[in-house]
Amino acid sequence: MESVQMGMIGGGTVGSGVFHALQQNGALLASRMGVRVQIRKVAVKALDEPRPYEIPRSLLTLDWQEVVQDPQARIVIELVGGTTLARTMILTALKLGKPVITANKALLSAHGEELFAAARQYGTNLYYEASVAGGIPIIKALREGLVGNRITHLYGIVNGTCNYILTRMKRERAEFDAVLREAQRLGYAETPPDLDIDGHDSLHKTGILASLAHGFWVAPQRIHVEGIRGITQADIQFADRLGYTIKLLGIVKQVEGRQASGPRVQVSVYPALVPQTHVLASVNDVFNAVFVRGDIVGDTLFYGRGAGKDATASAVLSDIADAALDLKFGTPQRVPPFVPHEGHGAVAPLDEVTSRYYVRLSVIDRPGVLARVSAILAAAKIGISSVIQPEGHEGESVPLILMIHDAPNAALRRALEAIRKLPVVKAAPVMIRVETFE
Ligand code: HSE
Repeated sequence: MESVQMGMIGGGTVGSGVFHALQQNGALLASRMGVRVQIRKVAVKALDEPRPYEIPRSLLTLDWQEVVQDPQARIVIELVGGTTLARTMILTALKLGKPVITANKALLSAHGEELFAAARQYGTNLYYEASVAGGIPIIKALREGLVGNRITHLYGIVNGTCNYILTRMKRERAEFDAVLREAQRLGYAETPPDLDIDGHDSLHKTGILASLAHGFWVAPQRIHVEGIRGITQADIQFADRLGYTIKLLGIVKQVEGRQASGPRVQVSVYPALVPQTHVLASVNDVFNAVFVRGDIVGDTLFYGRGAGKDATASAVLSDIADAALDLKFGTPQRVPPFVPHEGHGAVAPLDEVTSRYYVRLSVIDRPGVLARVSAILAAAKIGISSVIQPEGHEGESVPLILMIHDAPNAALRRALEAIRKLPVVKAAPVMIRVETFE
């Protein structure tokens, strides 16, 4: 049986997970593909660093060039993370005509366009199944399984840390800070946690999915991002009373009004109220899910573990299989990593996108307050669909919850600025968008 040798850069959690998965299922993979794959060398930061699965010392090196330049290593697997040295490593391998497998979402978000162009230029390929949603084969699904569809809507719960925190906040009626501390103690959140909880990890992944779905490169600067730091127990409880669950969503949605060259697309990451009847509301704990609507297939859902050494290794194994088969059959660009679609689309600024909203105001309980708030909304042609005001004591500060009909984001923002200035409004309004999946 033909054999393909590989070099791996990174022998930490994911790298050792890939090594272990190959030990476990390498023979299975070989029997399915008709190609045996083997890791020859693994470049690591330190020979003695602790790793969840052992890698034989004889395979380890401290020099990544030794891995990339090794003429016997025909595939390079990059699992180091970061956006500087990893970029150099990948470009070096691509220039040598070697296919590269990466799990590096931050790098693809920042330099994907350049790296995909380099793969094309040097007649090879860049495989990145593990970069989004870990073990869920969403890249392959979008690029191959759904290739015959126009993707009109895509919603992703793509950050396990945030989903874990929001799930526990709801289940235990606990506040964000306490749950975050507990998540850090249990190893479900990093220290510092900013990349996850401020939505940037979701942004990297959502940008990759948006680019694949719409065939134009979505730069991270074009993506509106809000994290989950501001979500309070009060909002989780009011949302529940109204029939919703709060989830951090990556949203890629075709919006009204085409530009001449292609569709306009909303690409955003923000916490949203999801109807409890929608399947995404049931995606809990560290699980990820991506909901995709295609014009031919209709609604589809992909669910699984979005992180962790074994789930990520499963995605890398899938890329190894593709890369090895493409080498075997001499088809390095059979499925290109990224294909621009005919007609270049554009990201619609969020201000121009229409949403529904949950708004929580802190107001003095006094006659006429609701009338003053609704007058500002009415003047902006913004409709209220329902109102909750728990009974309070007259003259005291009470929450006033408004559910708002579809309105452009800019109009709602300006109306809330005006509402904030009312003397009866005691704190900055809380606004969370409502996603109806229509
Ligand atoms: N930190 C990410 C998450 C996994 O919590 O989903 C790596 O992207």
